[in-house]
Amino acid sequence: MSELNKIVLKIISNGKGILAADESNGTMKKRLDAVNVSSNPENRLLFREILFSSKCIGECIGGIILYDETINQTTSFGKSIPDLIASSGAIPGIKVDTGAKDLANSPEEKITEGLDGLRERLKKYYDLGARFTKWRGVYSISEKYPSKLAIHSNAHSLARYAALVQESGMVPIVEPEVLMNGNHSSDVCFSKTSEVLEKCFEELILHKIDLSGIILKPNMILAGDQSKYKISKEEVSHKTLECLKGSVPSEVPGIAFLSGGQSEIEATENLNLINNINNTKFIMTYSYGRALQQSALKMWSKNINDKEVTQNIFNHRAKMCSMAAKGKWSYELESK
Ligand code: 13P
Repeated sequence: MSELNKIVLKIISNGKGILAADESNGTMKKRLDAVNVSSNPENRLLFREILFSSKCIGECIGGIILYDETINQTTSFGKSIPDLIASSGAIPGIKVDTGAKDLANSPEEKITEGLDGLRERLKKYYDLGARFTKWRGVYSISEKYPSKLAIHSNAHSLARYAALVQESGMVPIVEPEVLMNGNHSSDVCFSKTSEVLEKCFEELILHKIDLSGIILKPNMILAGDQSKYKISKEEVSHKTLECLKGSVPSEVPGIAFLSGGQSEIEATENLNLINNINNTKFIMTYSYGRALQQSALKMWSKNINDKEVTQNIFNHRAKMCSMAAKGKWSYELESK
């Protein structure tokens, strides 16, 4: 077993998943504005420090993805953020892309940037304690899109990123996110996601990536949020599995879904159903941002110094996701 594969398994085995707490300062401002808390480095640290010192870290959460500001911060009790995470038995990770920019010659689409100087930044993050990384490519669905240009260029960047990350001794999370915004059907989501994933793996293989040392972070197969063709949760799970079985090489050890705008319960229930019928050898787990933090953030905003109530909500949510990653979640557990 390679060192990278060992890191992967430590993060996502036994019902553990990933907390995506890597919101950029811009995104975090939007989240904090929505609950009337001012977005400054102190408040961002306070919320994250409360989450990262919760009981579920290490038990249900095997890895936490950080943003550059956070990985460099020190907690109110003097530990660095990466040390706090590692001391609970979880692995610190870091978002290394620098964001999605307009794609030249197809400006309604995005290309993710951040390759320049990446090798040097990775060294710095490794020294700070990171052992895995994230890079997100983003694709929207409409009649014309995603274009071949967006699919090819993002796949190429994801592969160059993954190669540099593995060279630096860390595990790359490869995140090609096909957005749920739009009025498309789930069948269109299925075919576009398949095309995006197939191109990504073609490039990853060309760039000689050790596929046993990556985590794939895809979207589930859903109908667009404006679509009139709704599908059942059972169909979501069947179609998601079918898509991944058809597009992801079997060497990949694990798949950690993004929540992508699903509610906390929806993201939990869909993951549970996927695990109920998982007929692949992939570990299927979560790498949720909003679907792990939404209720905790709301509660915290009522009294930002009440650590305990925020942690209770967060521990519960993480426990529910962890049960779903084992296929053992039920509605009854939500109210216990
Ligand atoms: P959501 O689960 O809120 O979609 O965030 C996951 C993520 O990391 C997106 O890049």
